Amino acid sequence: MTLTHGTGTTAGHSADARSAGAALGADAVARIRADFPILARTVREEKPLVYLDSGATSQRPRQVLDAERTFLERHNAAVHRGAHQLAEEATDAYESARARIAAFVGANDDEVVFVKNATEGINLVAYGLGNASVRTGLDAASERFALGPGDEVVVTELEHHANLIPWQELCRRTGATLRWYSVTDDGRIDLDSLELTDRTRVVAFTHQSNVTGAVAPVAQLVERAAAVGALTVLDACQSVPHMPVDLHRLEVDFAVFSGHKMLGPSGVGVLYGRRELLEALPPFLTGGSMIETVRMEGATWAPPPQKFEAGVPMTSQAVGLGAAVDYLGAIGMDTVAAHEASLTAAALEQLSAIDGLRIVGPPGAELRGGAVSFVVDGIHAHDLSQVLDDAGVAIRVGHHCAWPLHRRFGIVASARASFAVYNTLDEVTALADGVRAAQTFFGTV
Ligand SMILES: Cc1ncc(COP(=O)(O)O)c(C=O)c1O
Repeated sequence: MTLTHGTGTTAGHSADARSAGAALGADAVARIRADFPILARTVREEKPLVYLDSGATSQRPRQVLDAERTFLERHNAAVHRGAHQLAEEATDAYESARARIAAFVGANDDEVVFVKNATEGINLVAYGLGNASVRTGLDAASERFALGPGDEVVVTELEHHANLIPWQELCRRTGATLRWYSVTDDGRIDLDSLELTDRTRVVAFTHQSNVTGAVAPVAQLVERAAAVGALTVLDACQSVPHMPVDLHRLEVDFAVFSGHKMLGPSGVGVLYGRRELLEALPPFLTGGSMIETVRMEGATWAPPPQKFEAGVPMTSQAVGLGAAVDYLGAIGMDTVAAHEASLTAAALEQLSAIDGLRIVGPPGAELRGGAVSFVVDGIHAHDLSQVLDDAGVAIRVGHHCAWPLHRRFGIVASARASFAVYNTLDEVTALADGVRAAQTFFGTV
């Protein structure tokens, strides 16, 4: 990649980011695309692949693939265990990746826990709170996390199931009550729909909806949660890959994101937690590597982040994720955000101009990321996807793991195009052309 590099610095909010960065020119995007081998392949009888499903999983550049391969070919060993040279090299590569990923999201190294994916990260927090709620044999620091009947966990109606079901389950196990902010007609969190109370213990919400693309008012949600002493959990799956994010500046207590959505490998994600919270939170998985001392009668825990990384971790994947943040950082997240904002604005404009198409989410580009969901009159999303697929255009259809949100809008399924830094304006036009072709095919216009 031979781009003019951005600063790679992080800002607290996407709106800052959008104004800070300049969109990429066609040549720069072409150079980026050349790093992604899969983008050169064809599908469905030699159609160029138009990959508009990066919200589900993104593609990986050669730099990430090479980092994983080099690690496996030269340095592979169990980290934090052996005293031999490979073990040392593997541990260095793993910890170096942690440090670069932490810096990428404005966190300290010891606040970054490697998990399998964002889903596991949220479960780790929910199970940690659940373990604290058992209230037996825990120290006073852990007791602060205990929930019980009368306590409340708050989410929003637009959450991905990953940030809903673990909280439903925590409430079931502890007797706490799940409450939620509802959603406005244009797919944003309705801040007037719920008052937090002094029994609200957790407020968990998405940074950017994977369906409506709406960017949450993080500062207001954090302020309200702090006012009642509740913990905040940010689902940053759809923000960290696409905009500068500084977790310290956002002042959230916990956050999660997944490697495979940010040009990195699958099988690795990150749980961020403020250091003092990770120290006090009981572990979720226990066993080797997460202990300090062990006797037959009991054990004590290693300091975080090791306390939450039981067993041999996903090492080449962490190294690959380190390469992914290097790659994104070299472009500059302000540039990534600006480029994706230009794609989103073009998609909103071109799709809204199609008769019988309704955008599910904010119709304008303000405080909005590049997940554009829509429904087309008279055409089921799956049929639409099939026509697009025949033209080589890959989108997502269904409820996108946000079933309650689809119920809220009275739809069973929607189509979603989602962008990454390697997408082009021509691909947006291919999407719009494909939708029109589907309307002609099904005779709805
Ligand atoms: C907003 C959001 N949260 C959570 C997840 C879950 O991510 P993973 O399946 O990598 O754990 C996704 C993935 O689609 C998502 O879009």
